[in-house]
Amino acid sequence: MQTHPITGLFGAEITGVDLAAPITDEVASFLRQALADHLVIVLKNQAISEDQHYALTRVFGRPAVNPYAPGPEAHPEMTYIVKEAHERTGVFGGGWHTDLSFLDQPPGGSVLCSLEVPPYGGDTMYCSQQAAWDSLAPALKDLLDGRRVAHVGKPYGIKWAPPLEEQAMKGSTKRGDPDADRERMHPAVLTHPVTGRKGLYINPTYALRLDGLSEEMSRPILQELFAHCTLPEHSLRIRWEKDMIVVWDNYATQHYAINDYHGHRREMRRIAFWNEGLPAWAPEAA
Ligand code: SIN
Repeated sequence: MQTHPITGLFGAEITGVDLAAPITDEVASFLRQALADHLVIVLKNQAISEDQHYALTRVFGRPAVNPYAPGPEAHPEMTYIVKEAHERTGVFGGGWHTDLSFLDQPPGGSVLCSLEVPPYGGDTMYCSQQAAWDSLAPALKDLLDGRRVAHVGKPYGIKWAPPLEEQAMKGSTKRGDPDADRERMHPAVLTHPVTGRKGLYINPTYALRLDGLSEEMSRPILQELFAHCTLPEHSLRIRWEKDMIVVWDNYATQHYAINDYHGHRREMRRIAFWNEGLPAWAPEAA
C-alpha cells in the first residue's frame, strides 16, 4: 500500500488496495491512519458494491443516516447524489460546507463513490481547516480558541430557505424543517484526537455567529475567516473518474461540489459515518 500526496498540505491518493476484496485489519488501520494524516484520501478504479461500500465505511465509523437526505428504505444511510442531464438547478453540496454542522452530532466523515461522471466538470473541492488554522493571524487565533460558534441548517429550514430553483434533489431531501433553524453551538477550534493538530470548525453554509457576538457583529469576522479557509493554498480539487472513492474527514475539512456540467448526468453514492464525535475533538468543551 502506497500513499501519494496530492498537495503539500493535505490529501493523498492511496494505491495498492483492492476494496472489492475483504478488508483486512492491516488495510483498515492503514486507511484510518492515512485519513488522520491526510484528511482526504482518494482510491481509483474501485468498482464496489453497496455491501462493499458499507464495509469500507465501517473501517472509519458507524454508518450514519443523513436526516435531510436519507437513502432508500432498505439502506437509509446510503445517499444517492444525482443530477440529471436535463436539470438546471443547484447541486447537492454546491457551496463550501462541512456536512450537517448544524446538528448536535455532525458526522465525522463520508465515503463517496462515483457511479456516473460527466465527461468534464463535476469536480469536488476540499479545503483543510488545519492548514487554515496554522496560517491564521495570532490575534484571530486568540479570538477563536476556546470560543463557540452557532450553526444553523439554512438550506433545510424556513428562515433562510434558498429559492426553489436553486435547490438540488428536491424530491429526495427534507426541506422546511423549523428545527434546522435552531442554533447549535460547537467549538470554533477542534483538535484532532489522533494527530493532535488543531483546525478551524466553521463553514459559510451553516456557521452563523460567534458566541457572545450578534450575527451582524460576527459577519465581517466570519467572512474573513471563510475566505481564509478556502484560499487556493488551503484547497485541493478532485477530478472524478468513474469508480473512484474519496473519503474525507468532516471535522477538519470543508468541501464544495462544482455545478458546471449542465447537459450531463452525474451520480454518486455516499455513506457518512459517526466516529467518536466532536467531544473527542474538543474534550474541554464536552
Ligand atoms: C457533498 O457531499 O456535499 C457532495 C459531494 C459531491 O457530490 O461531489
